[in-house]
Formats: sequence, structure tokens, C-alpha cells
Amino acid sequence: MLLDNSDEYQYWRDEKLTNTTTELTDCIVEIQNPFKLTPVEKNKLQSLCQKVNFALFQIQPIDQYDEAIISINTQLGLKDFDQHLFVKTGGLAHITQSDKKDQSEFIPYTDKNLGWHTDGYYNTIEQRIRAFSLFCVRPALKGGISEWIDPQMIYILLREDNPDVVKALTHPKAMSIPEHRVDGEVRRATSVGPVFFIDEKTQALYMRYTQRKKNIEFLDSLEIKQAVEYLDTLLNTTTDYHFKHLMQTGQGLLCNNVLHKRNAFTDDKDNPRLLLRGRYFNRIE
Ligand SMILES: [Fe+2]
Repeated sequence: MLLDNSDEYQYWRDEKLTNTTTELTDCIVEIQNPFKLTPVEKNKLQSLCQKVNFALFQIQPIDQYDEAIISINTQLGLKDFDQHLFVKTGGLAHITQSDKKDQSEFIPYTDKNLGWHTDGYYNTIEQRIRAFSLFCVRPALKGGISEWIDPQMIYILLREDNPDVVKALTHPKAMSIPEHRVDGEVRRATSVGPVFFIDEKTQALYMRYTQRKKNIEFLDSLEIKQAVEYLDTLLNTTTDYHFKHLMQTGQGLLCNNVLHKRNAFTDDKDNPRLLLRGRYFNRIE
């Protein structure tokens, strides 16, 4: 396994570094008809997701975006969606500022900054999020830039710099999220696991992580504490592999659950920022 076999790791790393790109313009696919991807469009989206674990796409303005996004995702094999809180039909959640109390407790539904994380880091293995899509119906008046980086690239950068750091982060109990209770009832069980791991189902290197400090516990060891600091420092710098983009109407991101963050924004109250998000249990390949 590439985590503990250095020959296997080096082979995988060399492949990854040869195939990757640091240019965002190489990663954008123009889609003519979201309801019928051409073989070229589909190939490009899949090949980008294989090489850099994400693809940006652009579609022409239409009246109803939900169906178009569900159609694109379905054509890429993303059907098995996470039926989590606030999901509407077809598996998409409408990410917008909410004044409903139960929803506005969750940072995505506010205008606040959202730190680096992978989606569903608190999920059980059975509900592991392997891919997600994010589509912009309406940007904010100001701000709301998205940033992301391929977790496999973060793993390489860390391992090349200090192998002890990645080793600490593969500890099976490195990061825990306590159970979530509402009125004494358990809504989500305690989640305990590594930060970096090989996903058994796909044999791909995955990451579960969040920079949130509230309700997150790291294993009480100096190695893990230092490794997390190291990781946060790397995330908060800008490497060639960090991507940053302010999504405009008609633009979307498809990815194998890359690490991502969102910057705070200001809304036009009459036309608030609206993004459509889908979370899936399978990878885009
Ligand atoms: Fe997210």
C-alpha cells in the first residue's frame, strides 16, 4: 500500500506529479448541453477528475439549474447521493444564507468564512463522501471566493517535506468528532478515524479533515498535535497546487471531495448568493 510501501508511494507520486497541472485554465470544460454531454466533454471532465481530482465547468444561462446539474452529475455516474439535512429532490442542497434557526446554526448557510475541510468528515464509513459538486446560480455582491487543493497533493507535499507528519496523520484515531445530540437524541454518532487513509472501496488515498476547532478532538499526542499544526500551516500558505476562483453564474466544480474553503461574503439582500451542492458516495472516474 502506498502509505507504508515506499516503492509503491514513489511510483504513485511520480505519476501524479507528471499528470497534474497548476493552471486553472487547463481545468475548465465548456458544456454545450448539460442534458447531453458530448463524448469529448465527458472525457475531459473524467480525465481531469482522475488527474487532479477536480474539474470546473461552465454552462449557458438557463431558467432551471437544478435539473441541469442533476443531469450532468448523473451522466458522470454520480447518482448515489447523501440524503443529509436540507437536501431537496435529486440530492441537491441549496446553499444560501438562511434565517431559519435550525439551518443558520450551520456555517455553510451563513455569510461567514468557512475554513479548509473535506465534506462529510464526520460521516460513517458507509456514508463516506467520495465526490461533491458545487454550482453557482448567483454569486454574492462581494466576496465568497472558493479555494481548493487536491488532498493527494497535500499528502505528497507533506510527505516529501517530513514523512513523520503524514505518518502521524494516518493514525487510526487521529481525529474524532463527538456525537451530535438534539434534545437528548443522537443525530450523529461519534466519528473516529485517521486524517489520511486508503479508502477500501476505491483503493484511493482520501482525507477527512476540518480546520474547525470547535467539536473536533485530535489524539492527545505531541506527534499528532505538531502534525496538525504543520498541515494547517501548509494549507494557509499558497503553493502552486492551491486553486482559487470566484464562481460566476453558470460555473460549477465537480470533484473527488477535495479540500476546500469559502471566504466570507456580502449579499445583495434581494438576490442572495445561491449555490447548489450535491454529495455522493462514489468517485468520479
Ligand atoms: Fe464543504
